[in-house]
Amino acid sequence: MIVSPSLLSADFGNIQRDVEMINASEADWLHIDVMDGVFVPNISFGFPVMKAVARTLKKPMDVHLMVVKPENWISQVRDCGAAIMNVHQEACLHLDRTIHAIHDAGMKAAVTLNPSTPVCMLEDVIEGLDMVLLMSVNPGFGGQSFIPGTVEKTRRLKELISRTGSKAIIEIDGGITDRTCPLVAGAGADAVVAGSYVFSAADPMAAIHSLKI
Ligand code: DX5
Ligand code: ZN
Repeated sequence: MIVSPSLLSADFGNIQRDVEMINASEADWLHIDVMDGVFVPNISFGFPVMKAVARTLKKPMDVHLMVVKPENWISQVRDCGAAIMNVHQEACLHLDRTIHAIHDAGMKAAVTLNPSTPVCMLEDVIEGLDMVLLMSVNPGFGGQSFIPGTVEKTRRLKELISRTGSKAIIEIDGGITDRTCPLVAGAGADAVVAGSYVFSAADPMAAIHSLKI
């Protein structure tokens, strides 16, 4: 399992310490949740924080944009050092164009689906994607409970990927713990995001290890 701890639950007064913990851990990526207060009912942080994190981070940044018109920010996300740029299907009027623009900027392209958006919305773009991110909570906040229907949804997405011959991998975001990670792993997930489970743990590196299944 690819494990992508979410910076959203880190201690913002000690970001460098928490990023060094990620460097020393078995985490594969660092998940970066950018929120604009319009697409989701919360505001997190933006490019200056991402740039500061990138100075210390030794692992790829998996950037999840919860913003309207994410196509406006592709070069800025790339210039912050992102390896993967996740845009929401619900936020993109011209999703195919945006996927091409992310690739042209030299990043991997991922599309995120809210819990209410069916996987069939990706039928016509799945072949060009590197990753699909399924939200297993409604986006906007860390620390929410995993939505159980995500397990079946992961199976449906896996079936779409196999049927189309897409190379896309599947990442799950929200409410991931050592109890929910095996459920999505069994349904075909390749990667998980974990925020509060990792950063609220007494031993965050052990929490990360428990997701490496
Ligand atoms: C929610 C974010 C998540 C969040 C996950 O809108 O996209 O990445 O950080 O937090 P947990 O793991 O606490 O549910
Ligand atoms: Zn996220």
